[in-house]
Amino acid sequence: MVKVDVQPDGSMLALRDARGESLRFHAIWLRDNAWDAATRAPGNGQRLIALRDIPPDTRILSAVVHSGLLTVHFAPEDKRVDYDIAWLRAHAYDRVAPRTSGWTSDSITTWDRGLMDAVPIGDFGAVQRDPAALRAWLAQVRRYGFAKLAGGPVEPGALLQVAALFGFVRETNYGVYFEVRTEVNPTNLAYTGLGLQAHTDNPYRDPVPTMQILYCLENSAEGGESMVVDGFRAAQRLKAENPAGFDLLTQHCARYEYAGEAGVCLRARRPMIELAPDGEIVAIRFNNRSTAAITDVPFDRMADYYAAYRRLGEIIDDPAMEVSFKLEPGECFIVDNTRILHARKGYCGTGKRWLQGCYPDKDGLLSTLAALERQQRQAGQQPAAA
Ligand code: FE2
Repeated sequence: MVKVDVQPDGSMLALRDARGESLRFHAIWLRDNAWDAATRAPGNGQRLIALRDIPPDTRILSAVVHSGLLTVHFAPEDKRVDYDIAWLRAHAYDRVAPRTSGWTSDSITTWDRGLMDAVPIGDFGAVQRDPAALRAWLAQVRRYGFAKLAGGPVEPGALLQVAALFGFVRETNYGVYFEVRTEVNPTNLAYTGLGLQAHTDNPYRDPVPTMQILYCLENSAEGGESMVVDGFRAAQRLKAENPAGFDLLTQHCARYEYAGEAGVCLRARRPMIELAPDGEIVAIRFNNRSTAAITDVPFDRMADYYAAYRRLGEIIDDPAMEVSFKLEPGECFIVDNTRILHARKGYCGTGKRWLQGCYPDKDGLLSTLAALERQQRQAGQQPAAA
């Protein structure tokens, strides 16, 4: 049984359940989050009014609980609004505990080499024809920041069929998609046979590409395994070892630049480890090839900044952090480029290695996944374990 108490001045109310747990809500928050047809469009749920349409002296005259609903009577509008108590519980904000910087969302699980035994993987045919398989694969991408997909066609452009499963590709100066193989006169080190340090792609863009698909069409060269590192885990490890160094990489911007082809001069000024204002790790940018001169760190902190930058690189290079695999033709992997670093090991000239890459947007992937999960809930099924 839920009870409601209204503060005498009408500025807030508290819902109390049988166990005595109390959730407070402000009058202005409740009024702004009304779901009546004059406030929200019944069809698409979009808000029809702006905050300026709500009187600043909005207060609660009365509130009653009945049949799972809370009805609130607001002044000065003399307006009554019904709220689903389950919705209020799900959106309560009266229990946000203060967080220390470096936390990560409950929707993700950070990992290290231990994930080698359980590399997230899906089957191309299954995710194409079965929404449950697609949902499970996308849920792994959201949780671990990467996943393989096996069993796809061995044909140029097949990576676009993977992206079309969940969203849209961002076209860049490298094209809708790009080739990753040895070239005689490379314009970018990604196209040579050298091993590359684990990195995030294109930190010189703002915003950066949020996802990347790398799709294998040929991989008969010796070596050339792909590897991934969880940048959020690396950042957390740096914080545990050296909190001051972590702070330096989060509080000062690095600079990134790519001007390796005619007509292109991409520049960005962003931190290597980006935090939300409440300390959540939201992005990693790490790419030795395209880090420009860093000029935004105060002189007396630059030496310590470089020490932290070096240590972050050592953590990223630590084999204990890496998950590696060799892609076969028709296989690909997708990474969250705001979180996961990727690399390939060196390969030699015998045989060939031919991958194609593209940059789908993460918001489209998360949207497709959320919509699939909503369908699943409406069908009364259990959510995916991932
Ligand atoms: Fe890359």
